[in-house]
Amino acid sequence: MTTNQSGGANFDKSKVEVNRDVVGHDSIGEQHNYYTAPTPQRKAELPNQPYFFGREEELETIKDALAPENRSWGALIDGPGGIGKTALAIRAGHLAPEGNFKTKIFLSAKVRDLTPQGEEKLEDFMLPNYIALLSELARELGEDDIAKIPENERANTVRRLLSDRYALIIIDNLETFTETERKRVFQFLGRLPSSCKAIVTSRRRTDVDARIVRLERLSREAAMNFIAELAKSKNNKHLARATQEERDKLYDTSGGNPLIIKWIAGQLGRKGCNHFTV
Ligand SMILES: Nc1ncnc2c1ncn2[C@@H]1O[C@H](COP(=O)(O)OP(=O)(O)OP(=O)(O)O)[C@@H](O)[C@H]1O
Ligand SMILES: [Mg+2]
Repeated sequence: MTTNQSGGANFDKSKVEVNRDVVGHDSIGEQHNYYTAPTPQRKAELPNQPYFFGREEELETIKDALAPENRSWGALIDGPGGIGKTALAIRAGHLAPEGNFKTKIFLSAKVRDLTPQGEEKLEDFMLPNYIALLSELARELGEDDIAKIPENERANTVRRLLSDRYALIIIDNLETFTETERKRVFQFLGRLPSSCKAIVTSRRRTDVDARIVRLERLSREAAMNFIAELAKSKNNKHLARATQEERDKLYDTSGGNPLIIKWIAGQLGRKGCNHFTV
């Protein structure tokens, strides 16, 4: 891809469009349970989420932030890799009342994934910068000719497109943007029409004019439900056979990080790994 400094003129549209096809990818290089149904017009739809456990308090905080009477633009979820930021944002997105949000848009800025083999570039998932994000948003709102609009006018165009819409915009993995680009995104969100709200996820802590949800370990109870679900849906016999003591050990070893739980669970029964601690 060739992008100029602000990412606009030479931006390779095809990259973004591929991004709109599939949005879920695990940080362990495995495809998520999140996926979008292939629809010809709108592709940045909220991914499906077959299961989700716990996080009641956080969901309540986000619900509050998304209430029409709340003046802020929404909520920022931050926390370490794999802790469940994307899962929480998607859950909150599904729970947000359709009456308040007739349009729900999910945009991912993730460019790299952690796999057991190291970092892997996700070419297909690129939304490299603010201008690309705005352009994508515009296309989702039905403005296909956004590329013809000068870059410095695009934010106003998108604001105008949003002005009579009730939209919830989820921007996932904002930490992949540079500081300047992140600032531009937050400035844009600060001037969203009041009918629209946003949820942003980021591994990076940032002070913003929105509700901040600092995501930490999954509760033990939620993790136990998650482990039971993994044993069932992944048909993981080793995990299914695990005693309560072993499940507790898995939780403690993972530090309550769902991605690590998933990763350890996936290793069980493989040669050289019969334990719940790695
Ligand atoms: N509350 C939950 N209930 C069920 N599954 C969950 C929950 N939280 C996270 N997961 C699962 O754990 C894995 C990691 O979660 P997720 O991708 O949301 O983490 P993340 O914080 O967004 O990571 P990253 O920083 O890499 O983007 C995913 O497979 C997700 O579906
Ligand atoms: Mg994520």
